[in-house]
Amino acid sequence: MSNLKLGVNIDHVAVLREARRVNDPDILQALYVACANGADQITIHLREDRRHIQDSDAKNIIHHSSVPVNLECSINREILNIVCDLKPHRATLVPEKREEVTTEGGLDVFSFSDEISYAVEQLHDSLIPVSLFVDPTLEAMTKSKQLGAEMVELHTGTFANLFAMLNSSLPYSNHSVKELELPRYELSQRLEQSLEDIKLSAVHANKLGLEVAAGHGLNFHNVAEMMKIQEIVELNIGQSIIARSVFTGLADAVKEMKRLTTR
Ligand code: PXP
Repeated sequence: MSNLKLGVNIDHVAVLREARRVNDPDILQALYVACANGADQITIHLREDRRHIQDSDAKNIIHHSSVPVNLECSINREILNIVCDLKPHRATLVPEKREEVTTEGGLDVFSFSDEISYAVEQLHDSLIPVSLFVDPTLEAMTKSKQLGAEMVELHTGTFANLFAMLNSSLPYSNHSVKELELPRYELSQRLEQSLEDIKLSAVHANKLGLEVAAGHGLNFHNVAEMMKIQEIVELNIGQSIIARSVFTGLADAVKEMKRLTTR
């Protein structure tokens, strides 16, 4: 039995569906296949712009899922009201910008502490446990605890981008991480630092009594680094699993990630 939960993020199935809006691929089929092949949790993000998951998807997924559903959302009041009605097993508060390609960076728990604290309270009033998606810094862990969260999810995007610049074809492609076009020795140093930040943050959060998840940009190649950090008890992974499923099918992609994330 693994002591690490694999959260499979199926938003990207809805991204593909929204390209045509003919309910193909069917998100509920993705839910069933993910659950049947190793997902311990389903993660979805109800974005303000509804670019992938729709309200009806969230409702159906929560209703039909055989594993807990982790619903990501912003601190927007309208969205929070919907989330409170939907009653997922957990809500993860994330930052959102309309123009971003994906969630860039963690929640700014310092500038928006009043809004976040209000959101945590509102979710707790609806008996929904809360995780905060934050950058891996000691200060963010301490602040998350003060804001009343039960859990933090460490944003692993910096680590993942550095890893990909060093170990994949990313630098030779038309990529979106231009700020990391740096000499390899500098990338290596930064990669080591990013791992250290994640490790120290996980240890600190754990000492504060927070559960620790991690996610963003994790894939079949870099996930081994996360597995070395014992304090991390959950990984939420989307893009890489759905991308691989184009070639192998979703069942095999989830199975393989489950194998790599079993301690
Ligand atoms: N965790 C959170 C909080 C996220 O916002 C996302 C992306 O929606 C993920 C995990 C999954 O990231 P990826 O799709 O890069 O695996």
